[in-house]
Amino acid sequence: MDFDIHKVDAVESTNDEIKAASLKGAPEGSVVWALRQTGGRGRQGREWYSPEGNLYFSVLLRPPLPLRFWGNYSFVAGLAVHSAVTGILGKPAELKWPNDVLVDGKKISGILLETVGEALIVGIGINVQSVPEKPLYPVTSLGAEKAPPFSLEQILQKTLQSLDQEYAKMNAEGFGPIRASWLAVARKGSMRIRLPSGEGELSGDFQDLDAEGNLVLKLADGSIRRINAGDVFF
Ligand code: BTN
Repeated sequence: MDFDIHKVDAVESTNDEIKAASLKGAPEGSVVWALRQTGGRGRQGREWYSPEGNLYFSVLLRPPLPLRFWGNYSFVAGLAVHSAVTGILGKPAELKWPNDVLVDGKKISGILLETVGEALIVGIGINVQSVPEKPLYPVTSLGAEKAPPFSLEQILQKTLQSLDQEYAKMNAEGFGPIRASWLAVARKGSMRIRLPSGEGELSGDFQDLDAEGNLVLKLADGSIRRINAGDVFF
């Protein structure tokens, strides 16, 4: 894919910029990269800490697969960031369901997928120099992990390169190989899930990632529960 990168100083949210571009007919591969965001958005309506020094960008995709498979592109994006971060740090990162990238158990990146019309927006934030003060999860940054001094542009390019590869694999071969790659680097074991909109919490042991991208958990009473949204804590 040819990526067309639009670098901007500050925007409210790169996801919103690329959504607007998409509605005006921007092609697949359009990217908005902002040095900072004034209203960066995270999953479940949360705010995404976005001062200068970290990486914030959104990519416009027009996936060829039917809409019902689009949720699985979230694992495509997770694998892309995982591969870039692992390459930069020279030590293996992990993925936490659905698509957070962890280094030594601490979150270094977040991904927000949104759809607009026929387009899928993949918004990626990577902590390069700094982390939020009161995070929901333990957090880290490339700087704190003593990464070699890559520029933001180099990190962006590496991530786009892996995204291109994983996206092509998903489109050609479906979710099977993506699921297998995700399972190979996912953090497993026992975990606590905070369900969205105050539906409470669950604890259990990781069992699987199913073909729909659900997290399959074994609860203490032995029952199996499939989770399609929530926050995972270890
Ligand atoms: C999460 O909650 O883990 C997802 C965070 C996603 C943040 C990125 S930064 C670039 C893009 N623009 C946004 O407003 N959000 C995403």
